[in-house]
Amino acid sequence: MTERPYVIDEMISAKSIAARVEALCREIAQEFGDTDKLVVVGLLRGSFVFIADLVRELDLPIEVDFLEASSYGDATESSREVRILKDLRGAVEGRDVLVVEDIVDTGHTLNHVTNLLASRKPARLKSIALLDKPSRREVDFRADWIGFEIPDEFVVGYGIDFAQRNRNLPFIGKVRFT
Ligand code: PRP
Repeated sequence: MTERPYVIDEMISAKSIAARVEALCREIAQEFGDTDKLVVVGLLRGSFVFIADLVRELDLPIEVDFLEASSYGDATESSREVRILKDLRGAVEGRDVLVVEDIVDTGHTLNHVTNLLASRKPARLKSIALLDKPSRREVDFRADWIGFEIPDEFVVGYGIDFAQRNRNLPFIGKVRFT
């Protein structure tokens, strides 16, 4: 299959992301300042850049774990089913947990994952997403912290892919087909 040509226009610079990460970490540190057991959970794969920057900016005692949820496969829009492809290594019962996501689109993924983790009885459960596209929401879900609210654009970079490419761009870009 031939690839449709496209260019990437910068939408959120690396500098703006870094400043926002700093501000978010100040708020997270206030929320979890009393913890001695914060588990920071990254949702694979898209969150790997964001979580790396977040944890290095967070001056708290933390552990890092990862979870991978499936894309929807053949499910239709109205019956979207999220499956867990890789579960956490550690237990979260009685622990403080921060779930880290790159983007909330329909909301199915983070909604499913936070419900799943809540059923494991953590002491506190919060979520953060770098990007939020509220206009695309299909379930009533809002992360506790959002980096940037964006319109319904096709975005890549800073962990987010287009057909598995462009995850390594240091900024968030908008795909424009040419
Ligand atoms: C993307 C993104 C979120 C999810 C958001 O993951 O990383 O996890 O979709 O969409 P939703 O709010 O509509 O559920 P994707 O399945 O592309 O996998 P990836 O993280 O491995 O890129």
